[in-house]
Amino acid sequence: MTNVTIFTHPLIQHKISLLRDKNTCTSEFRALVEEIAMLMGFEALRDLPLEDVKIETPIETCMTPMLTGKKLALVPILRAGLGMVNGILALVPSAKVGHIGLYRDEVTHEPHEYYCKLPAPIDERMILAVDPMLATGGSAVDAVDLIKARGGKHIKFMSIIAAPEGLERLQKSHPDIQIYVGHLDRCLNEAAYICPGLGDAGDRIFGTR
Ligand code: PRP
Ligand code: URA
Repeated sequence: MTNVTIFTHPLIQHKISLLRDKNTCTSEFRALVEEIAMLMGFEALRDLPLEDVKIETPIETCMTPMLTGKKLALVPILRAGLGMVNGILALVPSAKVGHIGLYRDEVTHEPHEYYCKLPAPIDERMILAVDPMLATGGSAVDAVDLIKARGGKHIKFMSIIAAPEGLERLQKSHPDIQIYVGHLDRCLNEAAYICPGLGDAGDRIFGTR
């Protein structure tokens, strides 16, 4: 699985375990999602393009690398992906932010699109799509479809927890993208929730249940 990175860093694993705990309250949950997104983003963005620029230090003039090219497009999948935005923006404050609105039908588990706005020109930007949960993979596949349909090319997808079924589906549907997963869980249950998972990420971030 050359295009998949599954994280093993102890800080990420520890924070994911805290996220799973049903006794973790909304404010802690939000803070943890943000911190994990930042830790994962640090690695996922290791190939941001650099260019040497001339800088005058107090000592002398030198050529030194700085980010170059069109600014990163960070694309959270609503709602739960919003929880990861500030963690990435802490690393790349200049990123542009697009939004993709998808919700999963509770019975069929199929995703339904309700919003899509991406920063132009999307074809010239590195794109980091974020959603804490990759379950059946339906939402992730649709989100990448939407990005590609608008011209997006250099696409990365980052989720905190994935089920094997969803990861395989995303990889098969979009073998050209880079996928980053904080932890690969065991399976989906009959309601298409990830096991052991963390429950409903959107509800836990926004306190809606
Ligand atoms: C959750 C999650 C993903 C999706 C994953 O969102 O944030 O977007 O489910 O499931 P899938 O891989 O089976 O498609 P949900 O549809 O619950 O919407 P919400 O974020 O608005 O709560
Ligand atoms: N969406 C969630 O928020 N959690 C799951 O386990 C599956 C889909």
